[in-house]
Amino acid sequence: MQKLLKINNNFAKLPANYLFVEIANRVEKYLKSHPGAEIIKLGIGDVTRPLPKAVVEAMKKAADEMGDSATFRGYGPEAGYPFLREAIAQNDFRSRGVDIEADEIFVSDGAKSDTGSIGDILGNDNIVAVCDPVYPVYVDTNVMAGRAGEYAEEKGFDRIVYMPCRRENNFLPELPSCRADMIYLCFPNNPTGMGIDRANLKKWVDYALENHSLILYDAAYEAFITDPDMPHSIFEIEGAKKCAIEFRSFSKTAGFTGIRCAYSIIPKELVFDGVSLNRLWDRRQSTKMNGVSYPVQRAAEAVYSEEGKRGIRENIACYQKNAKIMLDGFAKAGFEVFGGVNSPYVWLKVPDGFTSWEFFDLLLEKTNVVGTPGSGFGSCGEGYFRLTSFNTEENTKKAVERIVTTFAK
Ligand SMILES: Cc1ncc(COP(=O)(O)O)c(C=O)c1O
Repeated sequence: MQKLLKINNNFAKLPANYLFVEIANRVEKYLKSHPGAEIIKLGIGDVTRPLPKAVVEAMKKAADEMGDSATFRGYGPEAGYPFLREAIAQNDFRSRGVDIEADEIFVSDGAKSDTGSIGDILGNDNIVAVCDPVYPVYVDTNVMAGRAGEYAEEKGFDRIVYMPCRRENNFLPELPSCRADMIYLCFPNNPTGMGIDRANLKKWVDYALENHSLILYDAAYEAFITDPDMPHSIFEIEGAKKCAIEFRSFSKTAGFTGIRCAYSIIPKELVFDGVSLNRLWDRRQSTKMNGVSYPVQRAAEAVYSEEGKRGIRENIACYQKNAKIMLDGFAKAGFEVFGGVNSPYVWLKVPDGFTSWEFFDLLLEKTNVVGTPGSGFGSCGEGYFRLTSFNTEENTKKAVERIVTTFAK
């Protein structure tokens, strides 16, 4: 009998990616019956402000270099050019008193790729722990790798440890009651918009050191931190270099969602099973990728110039202002609101009696504002709603005004 090619059947276990497709479908349907409705989108977490001038200039200059035989470059080092790795080590770590070396930094095209691929170097029978609600990439990529087990409605995957993040705990997860090998943490958090302070993060580092677990720390939103008690990096916590990998991105920090540049920090002290994870990741990356393009890395380097820093601070300040407008406005309208202070995301408690999706429909119908239902990020997100500050101030004000007028008690 002819042998048939097998596919990776783990993919069949993935829940269909309904969330943003479903949102788009509902908006489209609404627009069909209400042509010309002025919809304001505060749903998807994508930046809206243009790149700082210094970044654009650096990219143009690098493009010119590529067009000149004297300065043309072919393949670069897989883990990133030394000029960028050094700039990252200096500006994002040493300047904050965290000693990270350039060869502990791996430049990539995105924190999505890195958080999604890190499992390549980790055993498939590891137990994975994730927050609920959660950025779906952590779960789905472990489903693909076969670590998640079987899915059941309401319960989720039977080999994943879900760590509920509820209001009673300030939306922070509790330490898992059973053993977890790979623990995904994301602070400031997507979707709740809540951050973690040093004392609370230390509990996780201590847990990981005691249990020989690995923390996969996603700090994609660290640039939004305003609270001095909140660490920008997990490596500000003593001992973290022995138990954590950190993921960073230029996407939300510097408006690079369409440019694509990020990096992971894998300390050399991180040794499991007698093997250096830094060496394993280096091996994985140099086998599966050929680095990030030269003009993009020059653009990322320019983020650390004085003009670049000023430019990104201005952009972030605009988003922070929008978040404040939302927090103040929604509180005035009687909503309970969370997040938004150290994050571009505002996490709104939907009024009693509504599910997240029912509130989505109500908001669309009554205010023409689009957000993201919390239940789309996990069962503990039910009853909540995510709104983003990634829009113009004018649109944010308009959206808030419409919501306040509609819901004010
Ligand atoms: C928590 C989190 N991590 C990572 C990413 C992806 O970042 P990147 O654009 O660098 O792939 C996102 C994007 O929304 C995110 O919310």
